[in-house]
Amino acid sequence: MLAGREPGRKARSAVYWEEYAVDVFDLIKSEHRKVKELMARMSETSSRGAKLRSSGVSRLKDMLLPHMHAEEELFYPFVMNETDGRLDALEGYEEHKAARMVLEDLENTAVDDERWPANLKVLKDLIEHHVKEEEGPIFKAARPAAKGERGREMAREFKNMESEAKAGMAV
Ligand SMILES: [Fe+2]
Ligand SMILES: [Fe+2]
Repeated sequence: MLAGREPGRKARSAVYWEEYAVDVFDLIKSEHRKVKELMARMSETSSRGAKLRSSGVSRLKDMLLPHMHAEEELFYPFVMNETDGRLDALEGYEEHKAARMVLEDLENTAVDDERWPANLKVLKDLIEHHVKEEEGPIFKAARPAAKGERGREMAREFKNMESEAKAGMAV
């Protein structure tokens, strides 16, 4: 290979990082960031922004449901079976259940209903707390067992599971 042909960090495309370099921790974290940004934008809407609100809810569903599915089917079982984060993962499952219920509630609340922002606030707080637990104690327990290629392999599997979940949701 010619010297100097290897692209620098900055020159590597997003695809490069997505396909080859991202480990499961970076992937989960970047999805959390997207969800948090979306919820922040949603909480700035008014009852007159009906379209923004309803498209926000469906985008949120599209992001959250596959993400939680992949965590429950892949990442949490790994944490439970191969690390000492078992109790934290069990809490994670319960928080997912709560998030699903509140999300369903939000979906069934009219966007111009005064309860809509209250409902979104509850979901936002719940998810922010949950994300802190995942990126804190759960990641701390899991990192040593998912170093290097294992972590990258898990990221690829995670994405596949999300795609399957998305395909299932679309039916
Ligand atoms: Fe997560
Ligand atoms: Fe989660």
